[in-house]
Amino acid sequence: MNKTAGPRGVHFYPVTSKGLPIAPVHIIGSGPIALYVHIPFCEKRCHFCEFAVVADRQVTDELVANYLEALRKEIRAFLEICATSPKVSLIQFGGGTPTALSAADLGKLLDFIFEQFDCAELEEVIVEGFPTTITSDRIAVLERVPNIKLNIGVQSFHPECLEAVGRDHGLLAREAIENAAASRIGSVGVDLIFGLPSSAAETVQSDIETAAQCGAEHFAFYPLWVYDQTTLKTRVRNGRVELPGHAAQYDQLLGGGTVLADLGYERYTSFHYALRPDARHYYGLWQMQACNWIGFGMSAMSHLEGHIRFNDRSIRSYIDKVESGATAAVEQFLMTKQQRMQFEFLYRLRIKAFSTTYFFDRFGISVEAAYGDKLAVLEKLGLIRVDAETVALTLRGTLRLREIEDYINKISELPADFAMAVSAEV
Ligand SMILES: C[S@@+](CC[C@H](N)C(=O)[O-])C[C@H]1O[C@@H](n2cnc3c(N)ncnc32)[C@H](O)[C@@H]1O
Ligand code: SF4
Repeated sequence: MNKTAGPRGVHFYPVTSKGLPIAPVHIIGSGPIALYVHIPFCEKRCHFCEFAVVADRQVTDELVANYLEALRKEIRAFLEICATSPKVSLIQFGGGTPTALSAADLGKLLDFIFEQFDCAELEEVIVEGFPTTITSDRIAVLERVPNIKLNIGVQSFHPECLEAVGRDHGLLAREAIENAAASRIGSVGVDLIFGLPSSAAETVQSDIETAAQCGAEHFAFYPLWVYDQTTLKTRVRNGRVELPGHAAQYDQLLGGGTVLADLGYERYTSFHYALRPDARHYYGLWQMQACNWIGFGMSAMSHLEGHIRFNDRSIRSYIDKVESGATAAVEQFLMTKQQRMQFEFLYRLRIKAFSTTYFFDRFGISVEAAYGDKLAVLEKLGLIRVDAETVALTLRGTLRLREIEDYINKISELPADFAMAVSAEV
């Protein structure tokens, strides 16, 4: 079976069938869609990151210009096959690092997207940023978009935690949040990771407090996922980096969640907290509900009514393909009913709780009938909670989501020491 990683590591196990139409574009006119635009450039590759990025000396002015040209061409080619101009309700510029673009390029890209798509009912624009790139000229460009949300990847303010994973923005992150929060940007969010090397419950709590004092209105608060093929994985394996154990991670999650709640941030998904409903990131919720979205740029994923498409992850071949008029997609397929059930089940687990009635109405089978045996095991381990109306990840479950996904996906059984490790936790 072919294994493909979607956003934030959600895995699909499709039987690839090449040759399907690039996307079922007839669906586009029927309702609003979300857009994802991938900007792959970064100063350096962080040791934990498995996103499709281009970093360090590989990033040249020429490559950036060629990429942006290819991106525009991919979007124009897509629009040519749409019968009507898509109505866009949500846009996320992700990466990589969209704010690694110069202010001029960032402004042109935003203008281009707003010109090309029907944005009359646009509800949200999110731009991801890296602390050292939140400069006054880029802030000025972002301020032109009403209610835009800037989401800054901070991970930690503690130099020892950052350096161990190849990041060195140190205290510049404070300034970045403060400057953005003091500007006319609609709302500023911060990504923090717990379970970093050298981290403890106290460091994580102080990270949250610092970001909140600087003006963050939204938090993505994820555990450190250790992906294969990353420098972090190699370093952990070689004993060069030591990570907090699961019990310590759990303390960090619990302590962090308490501080966030005390500061007034509402936990609205398993991993996201917002000060107010209008500071939430609806793009993420949209994806978790398996709504339709189109992704542009290298590695971007699209989902339209069960049709999945992945673009090429290599920048050179992405540019070459688009420039020659070929599709940028390397994989596209229509999910079977079974795959759609799995896709929705795993996506919706990321929402704090999802409705079992919804699942039954959508697939004609109850969650229990579809996944009953596995749910019973996960519930016994304290990783999920199931009642008559909802299925929800517990706090422990959020730490173990990747293992849960592999278990549901039948990729692997739960690790042999799993039950012991889980019960050793608080
Ligand atoms: C595209 S990056 C955000 C913007 C910018 N590139 C940065 O890192 O500051 C998206 C976010 O994914 C999260 N992320 C990436 N790899 C991760 C991992 N292995 N474990 C947990 N979170 C991860 C980080 O919190 C990061 O801020
Ligand atoms: S975490 Fe962000 S800055 Fe680091 S390599 Fe990944 S996308 Fe780039």
